Amino acid sequence: MKKLIIAVDGFSSCGKSTMAKTLAKALGYTYIDSGAMYRALSLYCLRNGLMKDGSIDEPALMAVLDGIEIKFKKNTDGVSQTYLNGENVENEIRNLEVSNAVSIVSAVGFVRKALVTLQRKLSVGGGVVMDGRDIGTVVFPNADLKLFVTADSSVRAKRRYDELAKKGQPEDFEDILANIEWRDKLDQARAVSPLKKADDAVVLDNGEMTIEEQDAWLLDQVNRKIYGNH
Ligand code: DC
Repeated sequence: MKKLIIAVDGFSSCGKSTMAKTLAKALGYTYIDSGAMYRALSLYCLRNGLMKDGSIDEPALMAVLDGIEIKFKKNTDGVSQTYLNGENVENEIRNLEVSNAVSIVSAVGFVRKALVTLQRKLSVGGGVVMDGRDIGTVVFPNADLKLFVTADSSVRAKRRYDELAKKGQPEDFEDILANIEWRDKLDQARAVSPLKKADDAVVLDNGEMTIEEQDAWLLDQVNRKIYGNH
């Protein structure tokens, strides 16, 4: 059976990664979190003094970019972990400081070019579910299935709030909401690869859906692609 490439794009904190992981597991595919790559690079910039007053030192980043290694490895529970130059940074890349830096870093053209190349390299042979902002529009314009996920910003902020609290990294709800709305704006307005629905993407507004309803909807979409409409 053909191994599909499935692109999951959409707004921040829409549950794209949960969705993509569920699909990958159900199909025996590889899950790739493209946002984690932008986050890892942003963490590198923060740690190495490349971010100053909300802007990035592009020449300095360009000079070191080739030497920065971003990888995914599964932990003993089979959960994908993000590694930056050999260090597991999976938790650290989710904090608010990184979330604030990442929209700046991900708007840089040469950063996107390098990470898109890496995303394509990791997907050779298919059997991949990748989530992000430009997967269906730029990374894989010929993806077999494209999903575009959306939900109201306050619903998304509440989800992120609960997720961080559960991990023991609580943040203020209003700060999270502001960060999400700010990222929505930057993601949609940036000149390079802005967040937008691909013409052939299927839209999912999951603001009022349960996980079970969403999972059923997802499998239906995949079955339609694999077996055709029936
Ligand atoms: O999916 P996420 O929230 O972890 O993504 C983090 C940031 O990275 C988000 O603000 C937008 C950016 N991003 C991007 O520009 N392109 C992608 N393919 C994935 C993420």
